[in-house]
Amino acid sequence: MSSRGLEGVVVAETELSKIYGEEGRLVYRGYEIEDLAEHATFEEVCHLLWYGELPTREQLAALNERLVADRDVNSEVIDILRRLPPSTHPMAALRTGASALASFDPEAEDMSPEANQRKAIRLTAKMPTLTAAIDRLRNGKEPIAPRKDLGLAANFLYMLSGSEPDELNARIMDVAFTLHAEHGMNASTFAARVTVATLSDMHSGVVSAIGTLKGPLHGGANERVMEMLKAIGEPENAEPWVRAALERKERIMGFGHRVYKALDPRAPILKKLAEELAAKGGNTKWLEISERIQAVMREEMEKRGKPIYPNVDFFSASVYYTLGIPSDLFTNIFACARTAGWTAHIMEQLKDNRLIRPKAEYVGPLGKKVQPIERRG
Ligand code: ACO
Repeated sequence: MSSRGLEGVVVAETELSKIYGEEGRLVYRGYEIEDLAEHATFEEVCHLLWYGELPTREQLAALNERLVADRDVNSEVIDILRRLPPSTHPMAALRTGASALASFDPEAEDMSPEANQRKAIRLTAKMPTLTAAIDRLRNGKEPIAPRKDLGLAANFLYMLSGSEPDELNARIMDVAFTLHAEHGMNASTFAARVTVATLSDMHSGVVSAIGTLKGPLHGGANERVMEMLKAIGEPENAEPWVRAALERKERIMGFGHRVYKALDPRAPILKKLAEELAAKGGNTKWLEISERIQAVMREEMEKRGKPIYPNVDFFSASVYYTLGIPSDLFTNIFACARTAGWTAHIMEQLKDNRLIRPKAEYVGPLGKKVQPIERRG
């Protein structure tokens, strides 16, 4: 018997994170996600994921120095992005950009643990620079060079718009990066691990992961959530819109999860950020629509006897949109943050590697003989 979608199959041991699906709990290396979101920066979380511990002040300064120094993307890679048609989806452009980075990384083929640690930093540092450049180039604008005095998430916002984010926006983006940094054996992480388990290189693992994250059943859902909020338009339209979509047997984006059978713990953290943003800017519309959708879904799913809760993508959509980020860039933000987790998993995989090669159950015909071509059909 095959397990459709590998549900319930354990394919590796990991020390990076644990999801308690029934309780709606997420832990990175022993720390609850709520604790990290409130008390640690994304850079500290990177240190935790890559080196096993939260950093001391000196360790954080050393890591930060390298994350800052590695932010620049060389002009050859920017030129490759420049040549892409502006209609290219930003995730497709990121896939190309991440792949091109390998050609200019002198350690691209060096699979030693030390080189992989350096590449994890380089990739994580450069991904926001690539994403911001992709957005500016497709809008006919020149990329903005990274600033060295801002945190990784704040610098990302700066490179998108050219203006320094205020404290609240910078903090919100930083928390969003922390919430998206790692999440067990999700589809894109699995793709990264499968790729490097063949002893292919770290950039290839990350490129596989970007391609996998792009799909709407995974990271691509946050973009679709915003499309849904825009299609609904006003809070009073939410209820009939959702009921009609469910009637048509459509999926409501940003709801449901393979592992969580309770509320995704990242969703309420993002909801709180969405509330803070709405309070500051006075625009509560997207949040109100989201809350109405959540209420209808609760009711509908209770009726059907199978509750489906919002996942991380549901509230991230209104948060990013309120920050002024275009909706087709949302999945790139996810990719920027998850590069920390992908690269940590790649290094973990290579510590005790074995080729990942499951089997398929053949259900086709047997005993056929090749006929001359004129007798076929
Ligand atoms: N809206 C309506 N019904 C849903 C939804 C949804 N979002 N999600 C699941 N269901 C229903 C299914 O129709 C199915 O019902 P059935 O048993 O009557 O056929 C049941 O719940 C189980 O769904 P599966 O597809 O078997 O669940 P699976 O674990 O394979 O899929 C997934 C999980 C892909 C996340 C799914 O819930 C979904 O499509 N959600 C919408 C897309 C989304 O938000 N993805 C982001 C996930 S989080 C992340 O990757 C960051």
